[in-house]
Amino acid sequence: MRGARIIGTGRALPPRVVKNEELTRCMDTTDEWIVQRTGVRERRYAGPGTGSSHLGAEAARKAIARADISPADIGLIVFATLSPDYFFPGDGVLLQEMLGMPTVGALDVRDQCTGFLYGLSVAEAYVKGGFHDYVLVVGAEVHSPGLNFSTAGRDVAVIFGDGGGAVVVGPAEPGRGILSTHLHSEGKYAKELWVEVPGFLERPWVTHELLDAGKHFPKMNGKYVFAHAVRRFPEVIREALGKNSFSVADLSLVIPHQANLRITQAVGAALELPESKVFSNIERYGNTTAASIPIALDECIEQGRIREGDLLCLAAFGSGFTWGSTLIRW
Ligand SMILES: CC(C)(COP(=O)(O)OP(=O)(O)OC[C@H]1O[C@@H](n2cnc3c(N)ncnc32)[C@H](O)[C@@H]1OP(=O)(O)O)[C@@H](O)C(=O)NCCC(=O)NCCS
Repeated sequence: MRGARIIGTGRALPPRVVKNEELTRCMDTTDEWIVQRTGVRERRYAGPGTGSSHLGAEAARKAIARADISPADIGLIVFATLSPDYFFPGDGVLLQEMLGMPTVGALDVRDQCTGFLYGLSVAEAYVKGGFHDYVLVVGAEVHSPGLNFSTAGRDVAVIFGDGGGAVVVGPAEPGRGILSTHLHSEGKYAKELWVEVPGFLERPWVTHELLDAGKHFPKMNGKYVFAHAVRRFPEVIREALGKNSFSVADLSLVIPHQANLRITQAVGAALELPESKVFSNIERYGNTTAASIPIALDECIEQGRIREGDLLCLAAFGSGFTWGSTLIRW
């Protein structure tokens, strides 16, 4: 079987920078609390009329240009987001239209913070299997309109930001590029980090009462999420290494989903990796869910932090719970 590798990356961040200080004006919080507990100093918020499809499309254009192909060469679109422009249809078809692509398949992925890795695994399989030469994988979020900016929602609101990232996956010689992907889920924790409404369990599916009760805002059991994340990240990174007969010492760089700086630091400590080998940019963007890994990857490439031959591990954990890892020989 042929290999599959990432041949182009791109990112799109809305221009509006929102510092912690701005949030202290609408909720009971402080810059110190946010920095100490989450590592976030600022994040980006998209303006009205900009959805995750737009950020995804901008990132995708850059990734396709970097891959030195044209949108017409893409055989399949995979779009991961928990904040689509519409309840349906998903962002994938919107991106197909925005990029003027042929009528290729557009698959929407709903695996939250692990969404990009789920999407990447689809691209990996299609390209390795020879079904398509080029698959576009996008992760993009516009969280800001859906956050509760009152004190009741401060635990979640301070963490999340908007952004988009994309990669093009293309063919590679065997043994190069994406070596393996490892995906997991544990639905018994679905309600520990979720948005309950609108959902089709309700009759009618959305009411003033549900909205007045704030059921359309994300709810998070922060301590619970933290405890599971710091266990699952190292576990699934070790799983990827073990599967390919590598050890932690072989890793050039880990790019974790940017959940929270304390989680990233705990993962580095658990694996006994120096700080320089665990990428972090959460202080500038917050947690951008499905977008965080492709944004980080694009920045790493731009900063020259990834060189040919490097062993790279992408890893994520989030709502579902879902978690996963992808091991790459760059
Ligand atoms: C959310 C998180 C930062 C909270 O930190 P924590 O140390 O667990 O804090 P606690 O939950 O013990 O809350 C401590 C206090 O701070 C308060 N608090 C929560 N958010 C706050 C904020 N933004 N500003 C000020 N105080 C806040 C809480 O209400 C609580 O007050 P109380 O003691 O009066 O009830 C932490 O649980 C966490 O990082 N969880 C993982 C979140 C994450 O990564 N999510 C994304 C997963 S993909």
